[in-house]
Amino acid sequence: MDRVIKKAVFPVAGLGTRFLPATKSNPKEMLPVVDKPLIQYAAEEAVEAGIKELIFVTGRTKRAIPDHFDKAYELEAELEAKGKTKLLELVRNVIPDDVVCIYIRQAEALGLGHAVLCAKPVVGNEPFAIILADDLIDGQPKNCLAQMMDVFRKHGSSVLGVERVPEEHTNQYGIVATQPIEGRISAVKQIVEKPKPAEAPSNLGVVGRYILTPRIFPLLETIGRGAGGEIQLTDAIAKLLDEQQVLAYEFQGKRYDCGSKLGYLQATVEYALKHPDLAEDFRHYLQSYCLPEIG
Ligand code: G1P
Repeated sequence: MDRVIKKAVFPVAGLGTRFLPATKSNPKEMLPVVDKPLIQYAAEEAVEAGIKELIFVTGRTKRAIPDHFDKAYELEAELEAKGKTKLLELVRNVIPDDVVCIYIRQAEALGLGHAVLCAKPVVGNEPFAIILADDLIDGQPKNCLAQMMDVFRKHGSSVLGVERVPEEHTNQYGIVATQPIEGRISAVKQIVEKPKPAEAPSNLGVVGRYILTPRIFPLLETIGRGAGGEIQLTDAIAKLLDEQQVLAYEFQGKRYDCGSKLGYLQATVEYALKHPDLAEDFRHYLQSYCLPEIG
């Protein structure tokens, strides 16, 4: 099997109800953290990791996503005419020229597993990555997907990005039971979608990063509806375990759950404190705002 991953799937058809009314007509993936939409952070992570085809599984009210990755003729002409070269570069370099964006419409919101299955005709018979844009991950020393690619190159098995989550939060994640292999890598023995804390096999939660073999597609076609009446990616991975090794990888870095308001605000503050044009002023502002409270 080829151990190079060239394609990444971005399921972006979700409704984003936790951010209503902001997401009534705007995709949640277009919410900015400082000055970049979440979906651009996700796309950049994939591109940096060497991905050449970005496959977006979109839905109604998601037109802003293809527009974002498209050429913006009027805007570019305007910026050029005004000599705003730095901004022009920013707008032009959203995606490098050698990377292709492909859009698939998920007609019905039947769950994450169904969204991934919609990408089957484009992914074909090769291993591929999945990135959920609302998990923003500041991976260190390299980005989370790039770390997982290293694991895939070495072991040739599907890889799930995981991290320890608070025990009371197991019902928000796919939870895995594992056996150690080496360092941050372990073998997945069991995976359950959003178990209650008392029923969770561990507190190791799957984050929004997956590398999967194409065997997942026929399994997605047969599993039927699971938790919440949706076709769950987790259930297909549970079936995959009967046939192939699946690895869990505890990534290095920090994840921000930008699907929740608190996580989104944390990401906004911490990315602002690292932003080259903003960090200093924002730090001063935060200090002056917070210190009287602390005092
Ligand atoms: C999805 C998956 C879940 C995973 C999570 C990571 O849930 O179903 O297994 O742990 O993403 O963010 P969602 O957050 O879309 O409800």
